Amino acid sequence: MFIDPETSVDLKRSIFNAIVAPRPIGWISTMSAAGQVNLAPFSHFNIVSTSPPVLIFSCNSPEDRPEKDTLVNVKATGEFVFNLVSYDLREAMNVTSTAAPHGVDEFELAKLEKAACVKVCPPRVAASPANLECRLLQIVEIAPVAKGDTPSNVVFGRVVGLHIQDQFFDGAGRFDTVKAQPLTRLGGIQYAPPGPIVEMPQPFKRAAETKREAS
Ligand SMILES: Cc1cc2nc3c(=O)[nH]c(=O)nc-3n(C[C@H](O)[C@H](O)[C@H](O)COP(=O)(O)O)c2cc1C
Repeated sequence: MFIDPETSVDLKRSIFNAIVAPRPIGWISTMSAAGQVNLAPFSHFNIVSTSPPVLIFSCNSPEDRPEKDTLVNVKATGEFVFNLVSYDLREAMNVTSTAAPHGVDEFELAKLEKAACVKVCPPRVAASPANLECRLLQIVEIAPVAKGDTPSNVVFGRVVGLHIQDQFFDGAGRFDTVKAQPLTRLGGIQYAPPGPIVEMPQPFKRAAETKREAS
């Protein structure tokens, strides 16, 4: 089957999400200019640069208000925090996706403990294995193209601080992703923790390694 999204007016949006899966979930905490705390999950989320460390998430247009609270807050303050959703935090994460009115603190809705950040104002999820403090780099709007399209805003943030719970460092000083059990989103209401893990050595050597070995 071939589907042309430019002509298939009733293409289910969920098909696209279900194909590009599993997706990591950016659980984003923000604070309004007035100091009200917000927390919401975004699976249109990823890292796009490691040096400098930069991540993105994308807010689509809600039906009940011009912009999602997360976007309003990031535009107002230029700060946000990524919180890792471990498998055991899945129900709490789901609660925080509620379209609650602006000013409602989803930490309280989901009974989540807050912890303070170091360089930014929004609090972080204390129970997350890791949290990344971010400062806004830029926002890119994905404009509607066809009838029925709605704009999305892609938020780019530079990571300015990392919090990692000690128990998630392995013996070699690496972050133990398997132990952290990050929840991923598949299509629709399907989620998954990491499946079987395989290790594959790189089929090539970096130039620096080859040089080191030769000297
Ligand atoms: C797992 C999951 C992933 C989501 N991913 C996105 C996303 O990538 N973009 C988006 O706009 N909404 C996404 N949502 C919906 C938002 O979380 C939801 O609209 C939320 O109410 C926004 O909160 P806010 O208005 O406080 O910012 C997702 C929901 C869930 C449960």
